[in-house]
Amino acid sequence: MDKKGLKKRYVAAVVLAAGKGVRMKSCQPKVLTRLCGKTLLDTVIDNLLKSKTASEVIVVLNKELLGLAQQLKAKNNKIKIAIQAKPLGTADAVRQALKVVSKKSTDIFVLSADVALITPTTLEKLIDVHLARERAITFLSAFIDNPEGYGRIIRNKAGTIERITEEIDLGDEEKEIREINSGIYCFQAAALQRALKDISLRKNKKEFYLTDVVALLLPQGVQAVACDNPEEALGINCAADLVRIQKIMASRIIGGFLAAGIKIPDPATTYIESGVEIGQDTVIYPFSYIESDVKIGKHCSIGPFARLRKGVRLSDKVTVGNFIELSRTRVGSGTLMKHFGYFGDSIIGKGANIGAGSVTANYDGKNKHTTTIDDAAFIGCDTVLIAPVKVGKGAVTGAGSVLVKKRNIPKGAVAVGVPAQVLARKIHKVK
Ligand code: UD1
Ligand code: CA
Repeated sequence: MDKKGLKKRYVAAVVLAAGKGVRMKSCQPKVLTRLCGKTLLDTVIDNLLKSKTASEVIVVLNKELLGLAQQLKAKNNKIKIAIQAKPLGTADAVRQALKVVSKKSTDIFVLSADVALITPTTLEKLIDVHLARERAITFLSAFIDNPEGYGRIIRNKAGTIERITEEIDLGDEEKEIREINSGIYCFQAAALQRALKDISLRKNKKEFYLTDVVALLLPQGVQAVACDNPEEALGINCAADLVRIQKIMASRIIGGFLAAGIKIPDPATTYIESGVEIGQDTVIYPFSYIESDVKIGKHCSIGPFARLRKGVRLSDKVTVGNFIELSRTRVGSGTLMKHFGYFGDSIIGKGANIGAGSVTANYDGKNKHTTTIDDAAFIGCDTVLIAPVKVGKGAVTGAGSVLVKKRNIPKGAVAVGVPAQVLARKIHKVK
């Protein structure tokens, strides 16, 4: 990176998130669509923050998304919010951002919130090229096999860029062009300010196109930097795009774990969202689904057919076998739960054995309650634990017993039946 250049320049990034997203055909705003456990907006913002390319980040929201403002500002103190009252196009969205942007900004980095596969490395590369040269615009392009729906880069016979044309304005021959605009640009701030004043409303879409600044700023220099990996430039406009992008993101996540030595015998049937930690020598067997905010220790065995939901924390050497669902649950080291069952809001100690078919009744229709199972407890098959309830250290429950709420089973006791009764004389010796 040009260190000298960086000192003089102040880069403000703008994330465009105020569009209607009509092509998704969903009542949920597009940028809140989840991709491997994270919204599109968070995915793009997190990658941007990781890239350390910008001194501040302006997120352009519409009125419907205003509720996100506090949450976004709390995420990072570089984040500021701009509001686009009407979805008048990408150029109008940038105009709203420029009202909020710091006056000292020399360069404006613009990203779309729906280009979710972009990596911090590519963002750094783009900004480096931009800062190293005196050009009004440096933008990220890509050559893709199916360019339908993207703005195309129109070049003259000499190969020089002339403009970007949107799909609906393309001539038949231009539709063949595979060089697309990714929607990620670096602008010299002053040039952008000027050009935005000269953009006119496109009558067919009733929008101001940010892409129109390209033709306006040709004399001041426009450069396209092609993405090394064209996948990174793909946007998400409809449900089918989401599926495609999700597949790529999911295989990236699994690829990261495989590279770290985690054993995943069948990546095609294993789903791991972003924000998951897995320790060394753990095996994730096929048809398992691990949600974000799950931490798994070393030497664990998960699945096949396991579902680990948010807030699950597994220590080392834990087995979560087939047809088991865990949610907001901690499990201590060496505990075995090998066959079907459900544990929600539970704290399970180490060295416990959870029999097949055991479940917690953690939700009473209004509130969720905690189930505690202490170290070395032995939960017989088909035990129902009605929370809040606690099973003491080394205690045993008989097969088919139903533990009633607040009737805790003392350390070493044996409880059987429906409702479960402690057998007075049968104290289980804890090793
Ligand atoms: C845009 C580009 C297109 C490019 C493509 C890359 C324009 C005119 N076209 O098209 O050249 O190939 O991205 O993915 O810019 N947004 C707002 N306010 C608005 C409209 C949009 O904030 O009024 C936001 C959206 O939330 C979205 C981003 O801008 O995050 C891009 O908008 P979208 O409608 O997806 O543009 P494309 O049609 O994909
Ligand atoms: Ca788009």
